[in-house]
Amino acid sequence: MNSLVLTLTEALRYRGGIGQWSWILHRVSGLGVVLFLTLHVIDTSWAVFYPGLYEEAIAAYQSPLFTLGEFALVACVVYHAYNGIRIVIFDFQPRWWKHQQRAAFAVLGLTAVTLVPVFALMLIEVIDHYGHSPFVLGLDRVLLAQAPFAVGIVVAIIGAVLLSGLVGLVTGGGEAGGRAGSKFERFWWSFMRVSGVLILPLVFGHLVLMHVVQGVFALTEAGSTIIGTRGLLNVSGTATEFVLARWNTSLAGPTAGVGLWKLYDIGLLLLVTVHGFNGLRYVLTDYTTDKPMLRRAATYLTLIAGVVLLVVGGAALLAGIEPTALDMACHAQEELGKTLSEFCQARIGG
Ligand code: HEM
Ligand code: HEM
Repeated sequence: MNSLVLTLTEALRYRGGIGQWSWILHRVSGLGVVLFLTLHVIDTSWAVFYPGLYEEAIAAYQSPLFTLGEFALVACVVYHAYNGIRIVIFDFQPRWWKHQQRAAFAVLGLTAVTLVPVFALMLIEVIDHYGHSPFVLGLDRVLLAQAPFAVGIVVAIIGAVLLSGLVGLVTGGGEAGGRAGSKFERFWWSFMRVSGVLILPLVFGHLVLMHVVQGVFALTEAGSTIIGTRGLLNVSGTATEFVLARWNTSLAGPTAGVGLWKLYDIGLLLLVTVHGFNGLRYVLTDYTTDKPMLRRAATYLTLIAGVVLLVVGGAALLAGIEPTALDMACHAQEELGKTLSEFCQARIGG
């Protein structure tokens, strides 16, 4: 922890050049996306396991607090992706190192050039939504819905520290994750670069579909066309139907063969989770180099959290959504106090 404080204070005092600021921004943006990913994968799995909770989670995403967070998320993904590509290029072209500074400024410029039109499109949707939608989930309920995540994160940290303490007692304090320079770390160094390059089109594609072309507000728009499903309509106006239709769409058309978006999401889930949680391991172990017990805990925490996320997200993708989930989704919308679609009124009435 001391080394974390030292890094922050030194960064501010030293006012390091653009190189230092890029390093900090890359780190902070990566951590921001990891946090979002954790909530997002768990939320998405609810479309399968607890459709009612999924409707509430999406209602929270459609509230002003999350709307602000989504602008920050998009900025983090875009900056981190461009800067990641800069890191990859310079790692493989050491003779260009003298241009590092210019490249770091170019990344900032490119990020701004990308974000201006993207933010403008997002803003149009936000204004349109809040101008028309009579329903906004209250802040108290939005915050309350996040409480279990906060508790889960604290429990995971305590669990990892206890496990590390126990392992330390049994093994006499050997260090996990202290194999810098080993084959193991060289593998992860290459993995971060290869996965970063592969993630870029997947994450950008996902964000463009979910955030720019259609937008998070369209997830619950009754009668709207669901993106990437060859024209299927969201008859119930539930987020659960949105995901059901997308996961059932294959290259051959809706409801035939292996889901196209299921395959896409499996690739996305695997790559971003392993990349993101290994990145989190880098950050946490960096700040615990002189404390073997905490360093080991950091490795356990990221390993266990990454595996849990893969299992939860993977299970949801493999299980898929039952059509009966729509009844639960309709009931949840009624309980939230939303205006119900004709489909939901009929289902609830029946
Ligand atoms: C969009 C394409 C992406 C690219 C090109 C990319 C690239 C990179 C690169 C090259 C590194 C440096 C690895 C190292 O120091 O060895 C890195 C670190 C990291 N990435 Fe990504 N990444 C991308 C997406 C993501 C996503 C989606 C997440 C979160 C789920 C993420 C989280 C992290 C974290 C936490 C770090 C560690 C930062 C640090 O050590 O300071 N990245 N990324
Ligand atoms: C706020 C912007 C976003 C929205 C509205 C959104 C929306 C969705 C939706 C509706 C799904 C359900 C499946 C589908 O329809 O394909 C989904 C799945 C997924 N998204 Fe996003 N997404 C966003 C940002 C992101 C980002 C930035 C990442 C990566 C860092 C990401 C990673 C994933 C993954 C891995 C899945 C599959 C989850 C599972 O296995 O159950 N999403 N997203």
